[in-house]
Amino acid sequence: MDFIKVNTYEELSARAAAIICGQVAMKPQCVLGLATGSSPLGTYAIMAEKNKVGEIDFSRVKTVNLDEYVGLDSNHDQSYRYFMNHNLFHHINIDKSNTYVPNGCAKDIAAECEAYDKLIESLGGIDLQLLGIGYDGHIGFNEPDTQFEKATHKVTLDDSTIEANSRFFASRDDVPKTALTMGMGGIMSAKKVLLIANGKGKKDIVEKAFFGPITPEVPASILQLHPNLTVIYSEN
Ligand code: F6R
Repeated sequence: MDFIKVNTYEELSARAAAIICGQVAMKPQCVLGLATGSSPLGTYAIMAEKNKVGEIDFSRVKTVNLDEYVGLDSNHDQSYRYFMNHNLFHHINIDKSNTYVPNGCAKDIAAECEAYDKLIESLGGIDLQLLGIGYDGHIGFNEPDTQFEKATHKVTLDDSTIEANSRFFASRDDVPKTALTMGMGGIMSAKKVLLIANGKGKKDIVEKAFFGPITPEVPASILQLHPNLTVIYSEN
């Protein structure tokens, strides 16, 4: 594991964007696994800027997102599809038909999950997976559990996750209680994993996840077994 401690969120974002753009430069037709949430916003802004000035070309890149709330369609401003469109895809020269987010409104959720894993496989797997980490150690929406779940699946969100995400909704009651998430199989089979975390509040969970025992009670801890993991942490 490459554990990089930086001093500011700006530095974290610049380092993460440089790694992702490096991946795209090395393999212009690569598959990027992407995350939503506050952590990658700075990274996405820098990627968009680099694209704007012609430093990097996303025209052949494909993306697969980690997760989506059940019941929110792409026009809902808190859906993860909406987040990705507005925070990244609308600002770079990516072909939107090459961007994938699980469909939280699918009629047959089990079939959607199965199809998502098949899709990742058909794309040749993920070259670089970007992750944030939840206060409870979740990655994607893989919440603390008694076992690691391999496939894309439907999850019931933990209270702490609902609480953390309620800042984006009008009220706590508006936060969906379930979501679809890529499983640990999809994440762990990515060729490279880049996890970013910032803020004093994430310090304990980052320590537990990357320097504590590997346990499904701290889902991110499984990443210690990944052969090509970079973690960038900024306390600020
Ligand atoms: C979102 C996702 C989540 C977030 C995590 C941290 O697609 O996969 O695991 O990365 O909840 O969220 P922030 O960055 O908002 O602290």
